Amino acid sequence: MRFVTNLGRSQLEGKKVLVRADLDVKINQGLVGDNFRLRAITETLQYLVGNHAKLILAGHLDRPGGRVVDSLRMSPVVDELRSLLASVRVKSVDRVLGPSVLEEVKKLEDGEILVLENVRFCPGEEKNEDLFAQRLSSLADLFVNECFATCHRCHASIVGVPQYLPSFAGIRLGREIETLLRVREAPKRPLIFIIGGAKKDKIEFVKAVSQFADQILLGGTLMFARELEGVPKVLFPVDAVRVDDIGPRSVSLFCKTIKEAGTIVWAGPMGRFEQDEYMMGTRKIAQCAAESCAFSVAGGGDTLAALGQVGLRDKFDFCSTGGGAMLKFLSKGTLPGIEALEVNRE
Ligand code: 3PG
Repeated sequence: MRFVTNLGRSQLEGKKVLVRADLDVKINQGLVGDNFRLRAITETLQYLVGNHAKLILAGHLDRPGGRVVDSLRMSPVVDELRSLLASVRVKSVDRVLGPSVLEEVKKLEDGEILVLENVRFCPGEEKNEDLFAQRLSSLADLFVNECFATCHRCHASIVGVPQYLPSFAGIRLGREIETLLRVREAPKRPLIFIIGGAKKDKIEFVKAVSQFADQILLGGTLMFARELEGVPKVLFPVDAVRVDDIGPRSVSLFCKTIKEAGTIVWAGPMGRFEQDEYMMGTRKIAQCAAESCAFSVAGGGDTLAALGQVGLRDKFDFCSTGGGAMLKFLSKGTLPGIEALEVNRE
């Protein structure tokens, strides 16, 4: 796999670089909530800007389902990027493709950034339509994947575009691969997973990690997943507070396991941490994991936001930008978006 840092100024100056960027952050009342993911991509953006490339950023917010949803427009992300990259000109366009996008791309100067609208507004993205991938690719000369959190999805901007452009991994993506490979290949045991959150599609990841985990502690919507009953190593909460949080007896049970862990991998809060009354389970589990001597990894937008909220993010040895992507990478050792970068078009 080739990395963006393998490209020097002579290969980047004046080149249009399409960056599939991890822009999927929570928006609260028109503002970016936790900006960890945006900070994580700035090193790659600064590298490209510093080498005088013209950047075109493609990213998604949430799951609009292939149609325009006004509350999921990219404008708050653009504002946040402007404040993170103070000396860089960050422009935006309210379309993903079409004449207005072509016009803006044409006007881009070296070292400027153009942020496209939410790519998931286009039905071709999640369907991985070849035509959509081709049209997106035609905007640029090179492609950089700086979106580890979505590398488990076979979407057009992740696996389709690398078929048409010379493709490179971003700096953050490289760091995610390197750290998580170490966890996968030589974890200090017992290896404990804590898996929660709101996305039910984590069920398949729980099944996959049960092949090599020593114990899996469940919270969030997964605690009522009947499909997981009988899956080896899975520990369900014993006193869930409706669907909103785990109760105190579950906290004690889980903490007993966490204290003995050699490695902890956490993806997904224990409950609806955004509401104070359902924060208890997530906070207590976070405190317990933070105090343990285990090597600790936490991943995913909501998990990192929750840890940020309780001031414990720095206590984890590694924070991965990916939740589902991290779990899938740990179980398979690769992801579709990473494999796609290995194809390499010239
Ligand atoms: C994430 O938040 O995990 C990534 O942005 C991927 O989102 P998805 O689960 O909606 O594909």
